[in-house]
Amino acid sequence: MTSMQTEPDTDADQIRQAVDACLESFLDRRQLPSNLDEAVRYALLGPGKRARPRLALAWCRALGGSDDDSLPGGGAVEMIHAFSLVHDDLPALDNDDLRRGRATTHIRFGEAMALLAGDALMSLAFEIARECSEPDRVVRELATACTEMIAGQVLDTLGGEGDRPWAQADPLDRLRRVHRGKTGALIRASCRIGAICAGVADDSAELRAATDFADAIGLMFQIVDDLLDEEQSAEHVGKATGKDREAGKLTYPGVVGIEPARDEVRRLKEQALRSLESLGPKTEPLREICHTLSVRTR
Ligand code: IPE
Ligand code: IPE
Ligand code: MG
Ligand code: MG
Ligand code: MG
Repeated sequence: MTSMQTEPDTDADQIRQAVDACLESFLDRRQLPSNLDEAVRYALLGPGKRARPRLALAWCRALGGSDDDSLPGGGAVEMIHAFSLVHDDLPALDNDDLRRGRATTHIRFGEAMALLAGDALMSLAFEIARECSEPDRVVRELATACTEMIAGQVLDTLGGEGDRPWAQADPLDRLRRVHRGKTGALIRASCRIGAICAGVADDSAELRAATDFADAIGLMFQIVDDLLDEEQSAEHVGKATGKDREAGKLTYPGVVGIEPARDEVRRLKEQALRSLESLGPKTEPLREICHTLSVRTR
């Protein structure tokens, strides 16, 4: 059995600490009004996986950059992600009261503060992104991804409804568009930002590999999320489960079935690993992250 299945993930723990320290130091310097600061920290620094900054740092390292180069960029994506979760949980969207094993931000602080903390997390993301090694390129990536994530959330809320071309499109095409938007866009930004912070050019083979890898694991990540909604308990994953089907959401298990959804996870994992082949041994940590995300249960 390989180390990635048996040993504690110390690399993940170390990255998580570095990311949280970077975000906390930024918020300390930023001196927000205290009630906003409290809600922002609650939404951002709770017990989440920090998968996106982990991807950014791993890509930056794999292409020869340092953590100092990529931490603010990875932290920026985590801020957009935290904003997306706070708003996703609101009554107007998924109406959830449990997130990361505790009360959602609007349950803890009220809806008005949750809306505003989400707004602040979005703008703060662009502020912290300016602190990385390639600020202009990173801000551009972040802005594009943020808009695509929001567009994906809009398609997600439409489910099977909406205007004629959307409602009549093939369900699997619609599903891929939802998932590539709401989840894939920020995962793509994470990997690309990590590569960009290592200094690779826009037209480089390295940035293409990061993009191909990200596109495969981004879709894979949301298929796994859909499967967890079907198969896991709320206690285990720390958020409500068993809701997507009932809410009329387009999900992989809903459209293709559970086993074909699992097959698709395996196929996308192999596709992601293939995109690393030309880059050599420094991508081993990325292979490990890909594996971890394919078998995660929370
Ligand atoms: C949950 O993301 C929302 C999706 C895009 C599926 P994560 O599974 O990364 O949530 P945290 O950050 O670990 O809580
Ligand atoms: C959320 O998708 C995607 C974003 C927040 C952008 P879900 O609604 O499936 O995420 P969970 O299951 O609430 O984490
Ligand atoms: Mg949602
Ligand atoms: Mg949700
Ligand atoms: Mg979900």
